[in-house]
Amino acid sequence: MKPDTVRTRADLKQIVDEWRRSRLTVAMVPTMGALHAGHLALVRAASEAADRVVVTLFVNPKQFGPAEDFGSYPRTEDSDRALLAELGVDVLFAPSAAEMYPDSFATSVSVGGPAEGLETAFRPHFFSGVATVVAKLLIAGMPDRAFFGEKDYQQLLVVRRMAADLGLPTEIVGCPTVREPDGLALSSRNAYLDARERAAAPALHRGMAEAAERIRSGEPPEPAIADALAAIRGAGFVVDYLEIRNADTLAPVADWRKDPLRMLAAARLGRTRLIDNIPVPNPA
Ligand code: PAF
Repeated sequence: MKPDTVRTRADLKQIVDEWRRSRLTVAMVPTMGALHAGHLALVRAASEAADRVVVTLFVNPKQFGPAEDFGSYPRTEDSDRALLAELGVDVLFAPSAAEMYPDSFATSVSVGGPAEGLETAFRPHFFSGVATVVAKLLIAGMPDRAFFGEKDYQQLLVVRRMAADLGLPTEIVGCPTVREPDGLALSSRNAYLDARERAAAPALHRGMAEAAERIRSGEPPEPAIADALAAIRGAGFVVDYLEIRNADTLAPVADWRKDPLRMLAAARLGRTRLIDNIPVPNPA
């Protein structure tokens, strides 16, 4: 019964090689599991874009810092597999840590450009861990396209930069963030929020959306961002960053009236760290 669960890169290659001989196209959706509707939207987009779909499930130790939640990150492979079966996914690639990083493993992929600042200022290990594992996954499956959520916007741009710079033949496709009706972006880490925190959490997106609207209507970014920060802090968040960057490169904004703009934030509510981002329309 689909999906076939595959544990080794050699077995994945064998299956993909067979598909290739039949001239079938292949899409990949890399995940760390604990699948929610945001992941399932990526899987649906992948299914529409290719003949065969591989979903990867690997909680990647290299992208967690020593004080982060690697040990407690939700691991729900059986229920994830059931969700993927409903969507007709062909292969679930769920390797062990030893398969991905044998004892002798000594390489890491380091990305500049869009990886500079924002998340990197708070999680310096993060993008090198992501770029290393995603490079390995793409090399293992050689998909035509790989799908990533815009929810992790900086990650999306880092992966796109890495794939282009290493000459990997995979198109990196970004898909819109899926939100709860109250605006909270779906994330596996939302499961950490208690009832009080869950009620406060939409203030992050609300503050950002109000600031974006003020900028769209012609106000300069600084006061709009200052008010958003005050509102988000007022809801109980400790804000790591709330910034507007060039949406294409994540470089600092040169001209906020003309540059493509993206607002990105990370903030902590109790022990849960949430990230979010939205496009900021230029003033008309
Ligand atoms: O976004 C994620 O779930 C992870 O960072 C990814 C891309 C699967 C790499 O481990």
